[in-house]
Amino acid sequence: MNVLDITGLKAENLNEVVKGLELLLANLQVHYANLRGYHWHVKGKDFAVHHERFEKMYDDVADKIDVVAERLLQLGVQPENRYSVSLAKSEIKETTGFTSPEAILPEIVKTYKTLIALERSIIEQAGEVNDEVTLAIMSDFLVGQEKDAWFLASILS
Ligand SMILES: [Fe+2]
Repeated sequence: MNVLDITGLKAENLNEVVKGLELLLANLQVHYANLRGYHWHVKGKDFAVHHERFEKMYDDVADKIDVVAERLLQLGVQPENRYSVSLAKSEIKETTGFTSPEAILPEIVKTYKTLIALERSIIEQAGEVNDEVTLAIMSDFLVGQEKDAWFLASILS
């Protein structure tokens, strides 16, 4: 049975929302792998603080990946699991070899800019087709990310 027959959402209205969520999923997958690298590779006198910060971030991103993938399923779409496909599609590119927090944090800021812009555009599309749940999920993501953005901006000031 098609889930949309239960929820009443119309597949033909959801194309832009689905495209947005698929693109967000790809970006989150690459962001996750990058954060693992920052967690492993970071060095310096505040090693423990940053090592833990990046672990918290990648745990949070792992949860978001699952939420986005399962929202796609709720919209009747099978989410992509192949990393090669995500990598080809993602605006966020792979990073490696960063060891100093001074270099890593601006990379994370760039990533946040990309993710926040994508989520805002999904909110716009979801609003147009009365997909309140996708809109609520994206708003929830933004609550945490904008707070993180403030922290990052303060650290880098
Ligand atoms: Fe670890």
